[in-house]
Amino acid sequence: MIWNNFNYTCPMTDYIPTSQIHIAEGMIDLGAGDPDFSLLPLDMLHRAAEICFAKGDPTFLQYGAEQGDGYFRMALAEFLGRGYGFLVDSDHLFVTNGISNALDLICAHFTHPGDTIFVEEPTYFLALRIFADHELRIVPIKTDIGGLVVESLEEKLSEFQPKFLYIVPTFQNPSGHTLSQGRCERLVKLSQEHDFIIVADEVYHLLNYSNEQIKPFAAYTYMETVISLSSFSKILAPGLRLGWMQAHPGVIKRLVTSGLLDSGGGLNPFTSAIVRELIEVGDLEQNIAQLIVTYHSRLRVMEKALRREFPQAIFETPQGGFFFWVRLPGVDTGQLREEAKNFRLDFRPGVLFSSQDGMRDYVRLCFAFYDEEKIKEGILRLRKCLDAFL
Ligand SMILES: Cc1ncc(COP(=O)(O)O)c(C=O)c1O
Repeated sequence: MIWNNFNYTCPMTDYIPTSQIHIAEGMIDLGAGDPDFSLLPLDMLHRAAEICFAKGDPTFLQYGAEQGDGYFRMALAEFLGRGYGFLVDSDHLFVTNGISNALDLICAHFTHPGDTIFVEEPTYFLALRIFADHELRIVPIKTDIGGLVVESLEEKLSEFQPKFLYIVPTFQNPSGHTLSQGRCERLVKLSQEHDFIIVADEVYHLLNYSNEQIKPFAAYTYMETVISLSSFSKILAPGLRLGWMQAHPGVIKRLVTSGLLDSGGGLNPFTSAIVRELIEVGDLEQNIAQLIVTYHSRLRVMEKALRREFPQAIFETPQGGFFFWVRLPGVDTGQLREEAKNFRLDFRPGVLFSSQDGMRDYVRLCFAFYDEEKIKEGILRLRKCLDAFL
C-alpha cells in the first residue's frame, strides 16, 4: 500500500506547477505573451476584496445570475463607455471566464463539427487550438498592414459559407496590426449580406499607446452579426479568469439559456464582485494608465534594440498591445529556435500562428513580460543566436 511505503515520494513534490509560465532560471523567453508578474496589481485586488468581504453580504458566494451579476455589468458598462467614447448598455454584456472561454462557448452554441470558419493569416495560435477542439474547418484570410484584406474575404465568401470570422482587429496577436476603419465598415456590411458572425477579439483594444482613438467592433453590436469579446487578462490579471462578451440580446439569449448556465449559474460571480469594487473606485482606469506608460516605454526599448541589432529585419512598430512581428527574410525561425536554446533564449516562431504552415521566416516577440534591461539583453541574445545560426 502506498501509505505504508516509506520510499515512495509523491511526484508532486518534485515539481509543483504554480502558473502556466515555466521559464528556466537564466532563460529569457521573448515569446511569453503574459503580463509581467511585477505588474499584477496585488494591492489593488487585496483592497477591493477587503471592501467586498467587509460588506457582510454573502450574495457573491451564491450561484450567480446567468448573464453575470447586474451591478458588475453596470459598472463594466460605464467603464467601457468612458473608454470607448460611446454609451454601452449593460443588457448587451455577458460575463465570461475570459476570451478563451467565450470562444469555446461560441463554438459550442453556434457551430457543429465540420463547419467552416474564417480566421486571419496569421492569427492568435491558441484560438486555433480551441477551434480544433470543436473540429471546425479553418479557412485563412490574408492580412496586411491594414489588417484583414477585404478582397481576400470576398473571394473566400464566393466559395464558402462560414459560421463566423474570428478576428483580432486592434494591435493583433501576433502582427500588431490594426484593422482600418474603412475595412471594418466593409466587413460589417459583408457579415450582413452573407449572414456570418464577426467574432472580434478586442483583448488589446484598451492598451493603446497612440493618441488615435480606434472604434471597436463593440460599437456594432446592435447587429446580431457582430460579437465583441474582451477580458481583464491583459488590463488587470489573467488569473482572475474574467472577461465579457458584448453582443445583441438575441445572441446573449442563446448562451444564457444554455444547460451550462442553467446548472452552474452565471460565470465567476465571486471575482466579478471583487472587480466591481475596483472599477467603481477608479482603480481599473488607474491600472490601465500605468500599464500604458510601462508597456509603451518597453515597446520603444525593444524597437530601438531591434533596429540596432537587426538592420535587415522587416517590421512595423505596433501602436498598442504586446507584440512585435518581425520578418527575418530567408531564415526558418523554427530551426532558429533550436539554436536559441544555446543562448538561453526563446521566442515564438511564425509558423505557430499560421493555419497553413506558413509564416516561417517570422518571429513574434513580446515586449510586455520583461523589464527594459531584460528586453535589451534578449534582443542581443537573439542577434548572437542568428549570427551563429547563419
Ligand atoms: C488575441 C488573444 N485573445 C485571447 C487571449 C486569451 O484571453 P483570456 O485570458 O481572456 O482567455 C489572448 C492571450 O494571450 C490573446 O492574445
